[in-house]
Amino acid sequence: MTFENRTAAPEAVTAALSHVTSFTGDSERPFADRHIGPRAHETAAMLETVGFDSLEALARAAVPENIQDGGVQTPAALSEVEMLAHLRELAAKNVQKTQMIGRGYYDTITPTVIRRNLVENPAWYTAYTPYQPEISQGRLEGLLNFQQMVQDLTGLDIANASLLDEATAVAEAVLLMRRANKKGSSVVLDSELHPQTIAIIRARAKAMDFQVQIADLSQGLIGEDVFGIVCAQPGTSGAVRDFTDAVRGAKERSAMVTFVCDLLALTMLRTPAQQGADIAVGSAQRFGVPLFFGGPHAGFMAVTEKLKRQIPGRLVGVSKDADGKPGYRLALQTREQHIRREKATSNICTAQALLANVASMYAVYHGPVGLAKIASRIHRLAVAFADKLDGSLESVSESFFDTVAVRVPDADAAVAAACEAGINILRIDDTHVGVSFGEPHTVADANTLLEALGATGRIDAEEFEAAGTGAFGPAAVPAPRVPEALQRNTHFLTHPVFNTYGSETLMMRYLRTLADRDLALDRTMIPLGSCTMKLNAAAEMEAITWPGFASIHPLAPEDQTAGWRELIDNIEELLAEVTGYDVVSIQPNAGSQGELAGLLAIRGYHVSNGQPERTVMLVPSSAHGTNAASAILAGLKVVVVKSAEDGSIDLEDLDAKIEKYRDVLAGIMITYPSTHGVYEADVRRVCSCIHDAGGQVYIDGANMNALVGVAKPGQFGGDVSHLNLHKTFTIPHGGGGPGVGPVAAREHLRPFMPGDSSDSRAVSGEEDYTSLPISQAKYGSAGVLPISYAYLKMMGPDGLREATYSALLGANYIAKSLSEDFPTLYTGENGLVAHECILDLRAITAETGVTAEDVAKRLIDFGFHAPTLAFPVAGTLMVEPTESEDKGELDRFIEAMKTIREEIRAIGSEYTYEESPLKNAPHTATCVMDGWDQKYSRETAVFPVPGLKLTKYFPPVRRIDGAYGDRNLVCECPPPEAFDIESADAEA
Ligand SMILES: Cc1ncc(COP(=O)(O)O)c(C=O)c1O
Repeated sequence: MTFENRTAAPEAVTAALSHVTSFTGDSERPFADRHIGPRAHETAAMLETVGFDSLEALARAAVPENIQDGGVQTPAALSEVEMLAHLRELAAKNVQKTQMIGRGYYDTITPTVIRRNLVENPAWYTAYTPYQPEISQGRLEGLLNFQQMVQDLTGLDIANASLLDEATAVAEAVLLMRRANKKGSSVVLDSELHPQTIAIIRARAKAMDFQVQIADLSQGLIGEDVFGIVCAQPGTSGAVRDFTDAVRGAKERSAMVTFVCDLLALTMLRTPAQQGADIAVGSAQRFGVPLFFGGPHAGFMAVTEKLKRQIPGRLVGVSKDADGKPGYRLALQTREQHIRREKATSNICTAQALLANVASMYAVYHGPVGLAKIASRIHRLAVAFADKLDGSLESVSESFFDTVAVRVPDADAAVAAACEAGINILRIDDTHVGVSFGEPHTVADANTLLEALGATGRIDAEEFEAAGTGAFGPAAVPAPRVPEALQRNTHFLTHPVFNTYGSETLMMRYLRTLADRDLALDRTMIPLGSCTMKLNAAAEMEAITWPGFASIHPLAPEDQTAGWRELIDNIEELLAEVTGYDVVSIQPNAGSQGELAGLLAIRGYHVSNGQPERTVMLVPSSAHGTNAASAILAGLKVVVVKSAEDGSIDLEDLDAKIEKYRDVLAGIMITYPSTHGVYEADVRRVCSCIHDAGGQVYIDGANMNALVGVAKPGQFGGDVSHLNLHKTFTIPHGGGGPGVGPVAAREHLRPFMPGDSSDSRAVSGEEDYTSLPISQAKYGSAGVLPISYAYLKMMGPDGLREATYSALLGANYIAKSLSEDFPTLYTGENGLVAHECILDLRAITAETGVTAEDVAKRLIDFGFHAPTLAFPVAGTLMVEPTESEDKGELDRFIEAMKTIREEIRAIGSEYTYEESPLKNAPHTATCVMDGWDQKYSRETAVFPVPGLKLTKYFPPVRRIDGAYGDRNLVCECPPPEAFDIESADAEA
């Protein structure tokens, strides 16, 4: 067909393509038209099924009248071209310099093969958290490599698959030491910890009531009643100090020991394990992750064997599948709900999976030799720089890795001169500056800085390069500035995975092989209730790796960050309008952190009103686990409110609890629409009852996808909410992070919004400083904000409202279409659901034995990621199609579910439950090859509907045995022989 023929398509075709006929291309076409999946004729057909004649009519019937408002008043939508031009303008307002500020953020080079094939590849970034292990083997392997890398470098026994950032990782370590120890009421922090880390610990200590002491731990430990110590190696000045005495002192007092360390420095340093650490934490940022104006970066934690069942965060483990072959999964998954009400130990849920995978692949690509070379070169450059300081300049660091602290006559003048020469350095105090070297820095950079600072000597580039040629590791440094007793003497990254993929071809193929094992949004809809897996448009992703955004250091001077700050102000303003609140902070770097920020605001408010006794937080039984966990971390007590038969809050129980705790009530945490997927008509009444009793209302905004443009939590009763930008506002899930969880509040809570962790009042723990920092960086995961910003700008007010309408339509269309096969558990007004529906399988399970999990696994054979399993009600599947899925995809899902229902009906006649394709799902390509003796055909197993013949996805493993993996906890990379098909066959 020629182009002319195509443009002159017959009328029927033009009708089907009505969305494109009036526009010439994406430059003119409204973005909402491509973000929203169903075409006009599809919307009409879906509305007919649901029984409405317009989207407005559906929304009016579904959303309680008393919360509907007039929509959002944001500026009109920009086209993609306009939006990108606007972002380019903002990026140009940021000034790019050579970044040598350090203080927890070091310049690095993202290998292009990793940027292009992972960071910018939807197969990686659109994947969900790997709760369904059979369709997540690729990213689970990436995360297991991350764990192995951290274990090897720290020398500790077990590492998790990332935490949110370094400072909060230290906070998690402090809480872990306190929990594991039970003796002692204070933690001693090394005075060389980064100020932001000290500020975060002080904020947590204030909420959770433990003491913080600051001391120079390189001088040993004095004092008693200590549950743990935290040593910084290297310290914030760059100094690498020996903690032998402090560690001995800690052991004598039965206190535990945490080391905050730098993964690259560890290629040269004695492991924390060898130095007596129970826990090691830090940031993996410099393993290939850009500065991103402060985040997202992966924090890490490694612990000794005896702490392995207490480590917070997600943990990848190795188990076996139904055929006895090895397979990865999230280990201790029930415990991962860490986050269990009053037993909560941590609230971390979304972490930094994508960034952990970048760091892991950086190690896979460079291998131990490459990493040692990178580290050695950085160290040699720092040493060469320090050696050339003369005149009024003096290096005050005797022992260091990459950071040189320099005594100068006037620090402000030194910083200004360096800046003038194009280099940002750190002002430590009036007479000291810090210079941190990173992977991209050159001899020329060092010489430019020497000249700017007024040193007379220069490093000889030829001599410098010659000294590095052909050698690697500490031996290549003529006189490493690390005491001999602290020099590394053990191997690391010896597993083949770190010694195989050094060529770009192999690296590219490894990333592709892993991605091919997984199901992400680039292949199928991911109908996860409560998770809003909507389109993450390419145009939205475009700007995040632009150097104008990505290369900016979070502590760069304000006159270099005007573009970033304008973007942040703008997005906070847009979010305030969308939510109906007065103030928004984008600092929290996950939903859980937004919750903590909001709850600390509530707590701070009561305390400032002279009511510190208000500590009881009501939490409905259906709430997400993070809600109660965050309340515990905010120093509050959780009281659970029952759910009524219809899934709404049990108002009688609520009234009774309010009465009982009236004098000590801090407030209530509700999710709206509820986690049951319905708009509760009584929400205004619930809010005013709490207010009448002196409490505050927290509205969990994870379900904002059902509210944007339709109703505003800040107007129907909320005092404070968090949003999940990685759900409603299109930041991709990245396989479990990054996230952004802005906190939004009404005016009276403004003084309690998150403050800056580098503010001296936060660092010194000033009693009446009410702006407690939540995340390490002032602007949290700033680096991914351009995604949500682009979404808001391109959707405009009408697009946002229409997206919500379409999300309602999709959920109701599925609920209605499946009503005869899988009844929807809860409905709201007019028998409608909100943006998701809970399919109740409990009667089916009672009758046939088929569980919701069986259906979830069988959906894999149809090429689908399962809906949310067993949350918030056991025995159910919660489906959230989102507005981005077109009718064709929804129908494919409906067809799959109906086919599965027929398979269930065949139990008892064609096969028993045990023999059914449900019980045996999912099916791999190999399991249907040999000796097939099932009661159903191979075709039924792998091509249960004809359409699959063209698009089949084969999971690489069969159903993973979770319990086996938990009993035999293995969290390191198995040797390649473990995957040997022949030996696994023999064992099976
Ligand atoms: C209702 C609800 N609240 C809070 C959270 C926590 O958000 P995050 O995973 O970003 O910490 C989630 C995440 O799944 C959620 O569904």
